Amino acid sequence: MNDTIHQEDRDSEKYHAAMDFIRALFQGNSDGHGFDHSVRVYRNAMKIAETEAECDHRIVALAALLHDTDDDKLFSTENNANARSFLETQDLPAEMTERICEAINAVSFHKNRGKKPETLEGRIVQDADRLDAIGAVGIGRAFAYGGAHGRSLAESIDHFHEKLLLLKDELNTESARCIAETRHAFLESFLEEWKKETENLGERESEQNADR
Ligand code: ADP
Ligand code: NI
Repeated sequence: MNDTIHQEDRDSEKYHAAMDFIRALFQGNSDGHGFDHSVRVYRNAMKIAETEAECDHRIVALAALLHDTDDDKLFSTENNANARSFLETQDLPAEMTERICEAINAVSFHKNRGKKPETLEGRIVQDADRLDAIGAVGIGRAFAYGGAHGRSLAESIDHFHEKLLLLKDELNTESARCIAETRHAFLESFLEEWKKETENLGERESEQNADR
């Protein structure tokens, strides 16, 4: 029992250290990645992990916290160099570091389109990351990302149709599917309202064009 408590303390120290590491690494990033996103993914992942008896919680937690530290949109590292530079400080068995990196590498949407991660931990973190791309937070992130990359509001709306609305059918775990239901419905009602509010604008624009 004592051992279990001590193990939990040691784990939670590692998670706090990982949070400090990503806070410093992502400082100043405002395109919807970054520290807050990683912490939400960690929370989502731990919620999903509770319902997946077979998973290794430590791998899920550290892979979730570190899942974007070597994202090629932000960093030009190779072989998970940023994640590894943190993990090396944590006195972990080499095998565990490899399993964490494997889970991280299975998460990316564009690299793994259509491919399910091979490990349960990878599937959980992938679901956790995808959940943060839908719902109210997902909407906020899409516009933040679009703005940071010079995209118009309408171009960010295209991204809803290209990616965000597809995510709920691409989830791996039952508990993520359950969480996604409300978030997906929220995207749909947001888009309905968006359509209503921009329909008139469209007509006015075409009237103006006709005047010219
Ligand atoms: P992650 O690496 O966290 O899985 P991405 O890097 O694909 O996700 O995207 C980060 C965030 O930016 C997500 O919320 C995503 O919906 C949004 N995003 C990605 N591409 C676009 C785009 N072309 N337009 C608007 N938002 C985007
Ligand atoms: Ni992410």
